[in-house]
Amino acid sequence: MALPKRNLGKNGPLINAIGFGTMSIGGAYSDPNGREANLALLDEAYRVGQWFWDTADIYRDSEETIGEWFARNPEKRKDIFLATKFALSYDMTTWQQFVSNDPEYIRKACASSLKKLQVDSIDLYYVHRIDPKVPIETTMKTLVELKNEGKIKHIGLSEASAATLRRAVAVHPVAAHQIEYSAFTLNPAEELLSVHRELGITTVAYSPIGRGFLTGQVKSMDDLQGFNKMVSRNNEENFKKILELVHKFEEVAKSHGAKPSQVAIAWLLAQGEDIIPIPGTKSANLCEQQLKQRYWKAAGILT
Ligand SMILES: NC(=O)c1ccc[n+]([C@@H]2O[C@H](COP(=O)([O-])OP(=O)(O)OC[C@H]3O[C@@H](n4cnc5c(N)ncnc54)[C@H](OP(=O)(O)O)[C@@H]3O)[C@@H](O)[C@H]2O)c1
Repeated sequence: MALPKRNLGKNGPLINAIGFGTMSIGGAYSDPNGREANLALLDEAYRVGQWFWDTADIYRDSEETIGEWFARNPEKRKDIFLATKFALSYDMTTWQQFVSNDPEYIRKACASSLKKLQVDSIDLYYVHRIDPKVPIETTMKTLVELKNEGKIKHIGLSEASAATLRRAVAVHPVAAHQIEYSAFTLNPAEELLSVHRELGITTVAYSPIGRGFLTGQVKSMDDLQGFNKMVSRNNEENFKKILELVHKFEEVAKSHGAKPSQVAIAWLLAQGEDIIPIPGTKSANLCEQQLKQRYWKAAGILT
């Protein structure tokens, strides 16, 4: 089963129109699966044609799990378009976040990701967060060196400003910019989509089903788990308004005879050929749904 493709950046390559986010498999929103269950999930993602995988060095053991999957399935490495990210680290006791784009840090992070992923090259390497202490030109120069050494193939940024994107592309093309984008979270895209288009950068839409809210399955604050408990907008005061929006969204889905998550993806795909949503799940069942039901239904909604 092959998914429709979309171009990454100005000059390709062609990759799946919907990616597979692997943050959930590290337990971002609920208790993580065990290693074997996650390997089975990756088997399922592969089987159903979810061949664009998005991970990061801070998604707990996601990189190691993907690495183990490649070690078990070396012949399948060529089929997977593999994206990972560097720059963020956490103090696991205080949850304080650190950002580094220091060239030495980037080189070490890349070497560590290559080792954990058990691959020779990363297809798309993202700066997960911009470090204000390091000029973006220096960061890009280091990434271009890694590209020239064959360690990465394409360069991406995440949560950068329009000004940073402009300075970055003056050094080297940026294939993709990852921003939170869904019918639930509109503001970064409102400012950035036109800049992406002007600069030939693909918009990779993270949290495309609103961190699970647009599935309609979050009904009370008690349903919030993991990261959703830490997101500041999910507070008592906002929650009633959030649920009202979700209910309205569910009505739209009903009018199409679809699930809200399907409409969430359909809506994003309809915003332009240069947008690639990367929904995440830790469930093999949902993984198949993402492809069979969500995408194809989404395509049906669009026509
Ligand atoms: N660049 C960045 O800073 C950044 C930030 C956040 C995320 N990301 C990337 O974007 C990917 C997706 O974002 P996300 O995981 O935050 O949010 P998301 O895809 O909008 O939502 C994920 C949540 O929705 C649930 N879910 C997924 N499909 C479902 C379905 N059909 N029915 C019911 N529930 C469903 C998942 O549950 P289960 O987990 O229980 O399956 C999970 O709790 C991540 O995996 C990661 O790769 C990047």
